[in-house]
Amino acid sequence: MTRKKVTVVGAGFVGSTAAQRIVEKQLADVVLIDIVEGLPQGKALDMMQSAAVEGFDTHIVGTNDYKDTANSDVVVVTAGIARKPGMSRDDLLNTNAGIVGGVVEEIAKYSPNAILIVVSNPLDVMTHLAWRRSGFDAKRVFGMAGVLDSARYAFFISEALNCSIKDVRAMVLGGHGDTMVPVPHFTTVNGVTLTELLPADKIEAINDRTRNGGAEIVKHLKTGSAYYAPSASAVAMVEAVLLGSNRLLPVCALTSGEYGISDLYCGVPAIVGAAGVEKIIEVNLSPSDLAALQASANAVKELVEVLKITV
Ligand code: NAI
Ligand code: 2OP
Repeated sequence: MTRKKVTVVGAGFVGSTAAQRIVEKQLADVVLIDIVEGLPQGKALDMMQSAAVEGFDTHIVGTNDYKDTANSDVVVVTAGIARKPGMSRDDLLNTNAGIVGGVVEEIAKYSPNAILIVVSNPLDVMTHLAWRRSGFDAKRVFGMAGVLDSARYAFFISEALNCSIKDVRAMVLGGHGDTMVPVPHFTTVNGVTLTELLPADKIEAINDRTRNGGAEIVKHLKTGSAYYAPSASAVAMVEAVLLGSNRLLPVCALTSGEYGISDLYCGVPAIVGAAGVEKIIEVNLSPSDLAALQASANAVKELVEVLKITV
């Protein structure tokens, strides 16, 4: 049997941890690629040497050459830089746009049938850029943010209720930034809506902590951002594609009128399966959640306009 092939671009914290999760779960063979010579090779060799202990048969190789990524089924893009002191949001935007744009062109050349999952920040606009640069159908290009933001939301809820996280199903929509939209009405503990379980002020405090979830980790780490939960979230999406499991996940997907948002990548509920984004699910949001989602989409639109990516 031929195993599936997943390329992870960027052998930094998120990329290498995602690669590790994929091989350990035996989802696919992995190619880990980075611009830094030796980094992906060393990490891949180290991971292969853990196979005897962990007991996995999947393989991982490290490379700096896109030829080795040829015919990948799924590609996860984590290449980029994080914001440093003194850098504006636009500096990060332009630097990562240069990196992600170049990466995606190489990927599209060698793996024209791949599904692209973007992780690099600013997430929504990088996903939009990846779609444009790849020339792929939008179903095959989407971004990871909502799974992470929802996982953070779920964790904070399980802490507040002192209940098992296994029973929490949480939903955060919108762009991956301060304007993201935690949706308490779509958040349940084993079917019981969050609003039945916690008072409004407590929910609002958890919503706030979720919106600042990434910043809270950066404040602790000081030199970088989160990667355990981000890599787990990206791999959940890889798994949904490889297993064709048609999961309903919050996905940064190209909208075409859903929720009153058009031609813009934004976090919406969608079915993720073998073909990528199989379908965006449009449900009734409360007027305030809908307004917040549209405001979040507008914030993404502003960044898309800064980059002058036309739709
Ligand atoms: P990192 O700095 O540890 O790794 C980035 C890697 O990209 C480095 O190894 C670097 O050498 C590589 N790279 C830079 N230019 C490249 C190029 N042209 N080709 C190939 N590789 C290149 O950063 P980390 O923590 O892994 O984060 C990666 C990105 O993911 C950042 O932009 C970060 O903001 C973003 N992120 C997004 C999340 C989300 O929810 N969407 C969550 C966590 C991180
Ligand atoms: C996060 O939310 C940095 O986007 C990254 O942790």
